[in-house]
Amino acid sequence: MTSPPSAPFPGRRATAVIAGLGSSLPPREVTNTQVIARGGLDTTDEWITGRTGIHRRRLAGPGVSTGDLATAAARAAIDSTGSPGLRPDLLLLATTTPDRPCPATAPEVAHRLGLGPVPAFDLAAVCSGFLYGLATASALLRSGACRTPLVVAAEKYSAIVDPFDRDTAPLFGDAAAAVVLRPGDTTEPGALLETDWGSDGGESDLITVAAGGSRLPATEAPGRGDRYFRMRGRQVYAHAVRRMAASAGAALAATGWQAREVQAFIGHQANQRILDAVADRLGIPPRHRFGNIRDVGNTAGASVPLALADAAARGACRPGAPTLLTAFGGGLTWASATLLWPDAPVRTAVPEPRPRRHDHDRDHDPAPDPDHDHEEVSPP
Ligand code: UT7
Repeated sequence: MTSPPSAPFPGRRATAVIAGLGSSLPPREVTNTQVIARGGLDTTDEWITGRTGIHRRRLAGPGVSTGDLATAAARAAIDSTGSPGLRPDLLLLATTTPDRPCPATAPEVAHRLGLGPVPAFDLAAVCSGFLYGLATASALLRSGACRTPLVVAAEKYSAIVDPFDRDTAPLFGDAAAAVVLRPGDTTEPGALLETDWGSDGGESDLITVAAGGSRLPATEAPGRGDRYFRMRGRQVYAHAVRRMAASAGAALAATGWQAREVQAFIGHQANQRILDAVADRLGIPPRHRFGNIRDVGNTAGASVPLALADAAARGACRPGAPTLLTAFGGGLTWASATLLWPDAPVRTAVPEPRPRRHDHDRDHDPAPDPDHDHEEVSPP
């Protein structure tokens, strides 16, 4: 489903523009050989690199949460706007690995960034999360509901991946990336042009964490395995190629672009063979394909903005170049966007550890917090 039709590109019209771009990776790099040794996996480095293109990934340790990664990437994106004092007026966090099932992680990230009482919410669209977030935030911006939304995608899949499962353990890494949007027009670098998004819940069982929700509470899960992420890789592979190619094609058509006009193509970094198959179907040549799966693996919802930030940091493309993003994930969900390559100096940051006071949910020791402003409310 594409966004409502608009005046044909390149006619100038109001839209959301990427004004800042930031990312955060945990410092610890883990090679395929280390993943194999850790889980005693019946696989090889050759199999993983040959079948997926992944050589290494970054993994966050036990002390680092999705919210810590998100906070660092968000702060980096704000810095990248060139106005470090900028206070985004809405925060949307795309994640499938929130810090806790309840509440959402976004309000705490907004608080840690000092954004004040802005609307902040999580969005769960698995690996399509960032592009779902971009579509949502830009629609809110165009409606006038906000002016400078912050879209963060952050994942700590090492918290839900089974280290002993060879089908998934070698694939995933932890990361976050974020963009700040501002109002602008469709001729500016960073301008978001069209989006396409969709879902198919009939195939929801292909990618799941079975326990921990209302259908199977974690307390009632019969086996430890139910708490882990599971994926039927071969079936997902076929859907991923078909859905991303169709969605990217729909976004191109809505924009009025031919595939040969695209100078930068970034797809969800799940598998290099999937990325090549999608780009081949679309007719986008290898020199216009950008990605970083080799070094970071599949970082789920964070993968598209992380690859965009990586490529932008390398100066891979000139600001304003026609750009196509596409993603696919559990749900099933898929989404694509056309935009003009942004002109923002990318910032990267290491994850920010949570202040001590947030530990009270773990150790039930709610230490008084001198920094926190509690509004005194008298009982009626
Ligand atoms: O991020 C959300 C979206 N995710 C994706 O898009 C991921 C989609 N799926 C994939 O990337 C790939 O399907 C995988 C990387 C998960 C698997 O690669 P594949 O080339 O599709 O392998 P396969 O599942 O077709 O399995 C081929 C063989 C099987 O053995 P048999 O049945 O042919 O004897 C598997 O059991 O490879 C075996 N296999 C492995 N062998 C060594 C599966 N995983 C491994 C492994 N090491 N890690």
